[in-house]
Amino acid sequence: MTTHKIYIPRDSSALSLGAEEVFKAIKAEASNRKIEIEIIRNGSRGLFWLETMVEVETARGRVAYGPVNPSDVPSMFDEEFFLGKDHSLSLGITSEIAWLKNQERLTYARVGITDPVSLVDYEAHDGFKGLRKALKLTNQEIVDEVTDSGLRGRGGAAFPTGIKWQTVLNAPSEKKYIVCNADEGDSGTFSDRMIMENDPFVLIEGMIIAGLAVGADHGYIYLRSEYPHAQAILNEAISIAEKNGFLGQNILDSEFSFKLEVTRAAGAYICGEETSLLESLEGKRGLVRYKPPLPAIEGLYGKPTVVNNVISLATIPIILDKGSKFYADFGMGRSKGTLPIQLAGNLKQTGLIEKAFGITLRELLYDFGGGSATGKNIKAVQVGGPLGAFLPEHQFDTPLDYEKFSEINAVVGHGGIVAFDDSIDMSKLARYSFEFCAIESCGKCTPCRIGSTRGMEVIDKIKDGIDQEKNVEVLKDLGETMVHGSLCAMGGMTPFPVISALNFFPKDFGLEKTET
Ligand SMILES: Cc1cc2nc3c(=O)[nH]c(=O)nc-3n(C[C@H](O)[C@H](O)[C@H](O)COP(=O)(O)O)c2cc1C
Ligand code: SF4
Repeated sequence: MTTHKIYIPRDSSALSLGAEEVFKAIKAEASNRKIEIEIIRNGSRGLFWLETMVEVETARGRVAYGPVNPSDVPSMFDEEFFLGKDHSLSLGITSEIAWLKNQERLTYARVGITDPVSLVDYEAHDGFKGLRKALKLTNQEIVDEVTDSGLRGRGGAAFPTGIKWQTVLNAPSEKKYIVCNADEGDSGTFSDRMIMENDPFVLIEGMIIAGLAVGADHGYIYLRSEYPHAQAILNEAISIAEKNGFLGQNILDSEFSFKLEVTRAAGAYICGEETSLLESLEGKRGLVRYKPPLPAIEGLYGKPTVVNNVISLATIPIILDKGSKFYADFGMGRSKGTLPIQLAGNLKQTGLIEKAFGITLRELLYDFGGGSATGKNIKAVQVGGPLGAFLPEHQFDTPLDYEKFSEINAVVGHGGIVAFDDSIDMSKLARYSFEFCAIESCGKCTPCRIGSTRGMEVIDKIKDGIDQEKNVEVLKDLGETMVHGSLCAMGGMTPFPVISALNFFPKDFGLEKTET
């Protein structure tokens, strides 16, 4: 009897949309009908509006169905979906779906395709090729490869990863650390989670290579406390890697040893800031440290430490495997390679897209996102998390590129895009930015700790029509003070969303002008 291979995702987004119930319904129906099936729990492909997306392996390639609910399962069996036959929920050959076909998946090459904890699957899809190559190179050659790829940190600040690694490599110390920042606290972001749940070995491989490059033998993944599935999958993958000689003593019979641990984060936004993260990892309260010294010189327990975001580290294996030039050929200007973009908020189609830098917001919002979910006009988008500027419609043609965004006082950040339709009141969002800063501030410096609360009051006064002209000036002055006087980007960036909302949507603040 032929066994039919069926793929049902098990990542958090699919599970939250009922993937477990669909799995149980398909298993039960197959058993009742005596149809031989093998179910593989893959990761989500990132087309969230189609979850639960079920796939079937056929001679033509994998065929997708979605969104599948348990009640659809009997009719799918009636129509013999397990042979890839037509059904009202058929989406055709998965790789031909426009949302997937129009992407450049490098870091996410395996996401949704493989079983996340199958080492056999991982290696069959180019896994550990980067590490095997790195083991034949010197530390400096590995760092050079990363520098030449042009990779910049994907956690927000876009600092060149190669330069950071070079600093740690050059720092004289017996003990060094690799710390993966998996705190992923930005609004509308989930790309780190998707890598950790759907392709954990790629992060593990990236961290081993980082350790090899700079001479560190110990790594920590500082994981957002709200990610229990990611924690379970990472721990499972780490244990499999250890048992198979990829972690622990003498990796792949080399001289190199590397230990890796997952630590649950403290549940505070500021603990994603790298120095506050290190404090938290050391068991202290998450307060921001003064820089210098940089963590690359004095990081975890005072030792030279690479602190990198999940995506930065998960991109290392493909750079080592395919070479720096291959990676640097994607993108535009100084924004090299690809960025995982997360579409969220008021959009018809939300999910994950990996694209080379250079794609415009308009293409993302309309070609991929399908426009607003409500059918109304999209009024603004916030890019780069809660501290990112609000961009109005006339800026939607800005290409995603660190420098082009900087020219319009915006940030790309972690690639999270949250869309709002024209029913939104931008003054409420601006006020919320201050409130968020007041709640999440670590409290170490005055502009952020006090300024955020004063900011809320000033917005209230403007909205109440009290001395509007004077209070707009006060708000702008306060913004300047926070930008220039804050110790870290929490206070330093909070004025970005506020001032952009005020500049582009003055009417929402009760101001007469259409634009300042
Ligand atoms: C308030 C605040 C929160 C941050 N949260 C995160 C986070 O959740 N994840 C992350 O990777 N970087 C975060 N960062 C950026 C880190 O401080 C740091 O730049 C990053 O981890 C470096 O890694 P990369 O060079 O690979 O981007 C945050 C920064 C600030 C100021
Ligand atoms: S800006 Fe805010 S979060 Fe950053 S150090 Fe100052 S008080 Fe702490």
